[in-house]
Amino acid sequence: MSRFWSGFVNELDPYVPGEQPKLANLTKLNTNENPYGPSPKVIEAIRMAASDRLRLYPDPTSAELRQAIADFYRIDTAWVFVGNGSDEVLGHVFNAFFRQEAPILFPDISYSFYPVYCQLYQISYDTVPLSHDFSINVDDYDRINGGIIFPNPNAPTGCLLALSEIERLLQKNTESVVVIDEAYIDFGGESAVSLVKDYPNLLIVQTMSKSRSLAGMRVGYAIGQADLIEGLIRVKDSFNSYPVDSLASAAGVAAMNDKAYFNETCQAVIDERNKVVTGLQELGFDVLPSAANFVFASHKQLDAAVIAAGLRKEGIIVRHFTKPRINQFLRISIGTAGENQQLLSVLDTLV
Ligand SMILES: Cc1ncc(COP(=O)(O)O)c(C=O)c1O
Repeated sequence: MSRFWSGFVNELDPYVPGEQPKLANLTKLNTNENPYGPSPKVIEAIRMAASDRLRLYPDPTSAELRQAIADFYRIDTAWVFVGNGSDEVLGHVFNAFFRQEAPILFPDISYSFYPVYCQLYQISYDTVPLSHDFSINVDDYDRINGGIIFPNPNAPTGCLLALSEIERLLQKNTESVVVIDEAYIDFGGESAVSLVKDYPNLLIVQTMSKSRSLAGMRVGYAIGQADLIEGLIRVKDSFNSYPVDSLASAAGVAAMNDKAYFNETCQAVIDERNKVVTGLQELGFDVLPSAANFVFASHKQLDAAVIAAGLRKEGIIVRHFTKPRINQFLRISIGTAGENQQLLSVLDTLV
């Protein structure tokens, strides 16, 4: 609080990111980062880009990066928008499309940044309760709205909504923008990018932070028909013309091009996830079906906060949300084989 803050800033309730501890010897399973480093080709591309040319501004249109993304999905570059992490892309999305009369809709249990953008851009919203089994029921979104957004797979549950259900949602909502936040889609889901050609109101948001191991570079993107992308560019160019720096752009291009490394590391995370799920179930946890690089689990007897504190004592951090419906769950990111083994053996002693 400061007397120099505007009343508006005083009222803000900012997003709180997962902890990034300074201690080196912690096992970090709390922020859904990829346990594997980026492709060696990405590191090489960053080295090459670290040159005298850094005195120049980067390309404000990020043409090369957008082309690499367009090539990966076999779509037109005019359908691709890029930004400084998908959080920034999402911020522009809320600003560009969701400042409407009717409230926007998102699930009651979802990415906790969405209400923060609503507050920042003064957007009204209604939350739609997830079903009993924590799934999204698209029929619950059958009402007048200023837009719809949710992650698929959802966060923090990890539950996946089938592509056919997303198409059903789009058929019922043709007059507002529907945003699917696919931060975790590469770990077991099918992207809705294939639907973009048929639905001018569909926007997909993705990130290189998770499946491409580049959380530290901050590269996010959106895919939609050219009209939507143009709207985002208008907002971006009214805010920051150069959101993607030269190093991030070089890294992003190399990451999109190295499909073999991408497929290999995604598969390794999926294989490890399967082992973690089995291990947790054997220890008495209920685990929601996950298509992400994390699992959401609650123990049949032990309190989630007690387990999280016990893990922390042993140097393992996981995420515990204190929200009513999910306060007995822990969100556990999938680590390397060694980290997952360590997690399961410490849990074994705790439960
Ligand atoms: C659902 C979801 N969307 C978007 C993001 C933001 O990712 P980034 O800003 O690193 O691209 C996250 C990060 O954890 C997320 O969980």
